[in-house]
Amino acid sequence: MDLLDAITARKSIRAFRPEPVPQSVLQALLQLAIRAPSSMNTQPWEFFVVSGEPLARLKTQSLARLAAGEAPRPEHSVTGWPRQSVFRERQVALARQIFELMEIRRGDNEKRSEWLARGFRFFDAPTAIIACTDGQLTPAGPLIDIGAVVQTLCMAALAFDLGTCIEDQGVAYPEIVRAAAGIPADKRIVTAVAVGYPDWEFPANRLASARDPVAAVTRWCGFDQD
Ligand SMILES: Cc1cc2nc3c(=O)[nH]c(=O)nc-3n(C[C@H](O)[C@H](O)[C@H](O)COP(=O)(O)O)c2cc1C
Repeated sequence: MDLLDAITARKSIRAFRPEPVPQSVLQALLQLAIRAPSSMNTQPWEFFVVSGEPLARLKTQSLARLAAGEAPRPEHSVTGWPRQSVFRERQVALARQIFELMEIRRGDNEKRSEWLARGFRFFDAPTAIIACTDGQLTPAGPLIDIGAVVQTLCMAALAFDLGTCIEDQGVAYPEIVRAAAGIPADKRIVTAVAVGYPDWEFPANRLASARDPVAAVTRWCGFDQD
């Protein structure tokens, strides 16, 4: 696949076929992902790849906490979006697009809860990759590096016909992620990536998420006016 086509084709996948992803494929994927740049080549990332019974247990426990109404307590602070902001508007626009594709009508709380639960069970992916950093590092410091490696992983996944969804929902309850994945106390959990073969029949996988135009997010300095 051409690089520009791949950049355009990458999208978040929110339903997967049940086939497991071979460990050799995941190994090759991570081998590519770690070519990502990092500040001073510090490579402040570590991955915990979870599949099979430990992932099944993690999904069950995560859903149980969600059902009990337990508030998420991620280790890396997830931004809140001010109600009167473009960020909130974009978030609402995404939800509208997804709900339309999934035929979730306003006020249909059952379907909304079912949708929410999908994220907490890793969208039924056969693999979850938990991206961590080292607890010695400042909380925000390695986040650009982790972002670079995770995006590289999501891009490389396309070469193996794999789909991905970066998902903070997957690390909402860190203690159970730690226990299932065997993550030591000196590592900080940053985010999760659901990985598997996409179920292209699933309506939300048809989503083409919107972007504001370049002109809305770019200022040019030192260029002649065309
Ligand atoms: C840091 C981060 C966390 C995310 N967490 C979630 C999540 O918890 N649940 C989810 O459905 N999507 C999650 N996403 C996916 C975004 O919703 C998605 O990237 C965005 O809507 C753009 O769509 P695209 O990836 O299909 O281009 C996350 C993405 C990032 C970068």
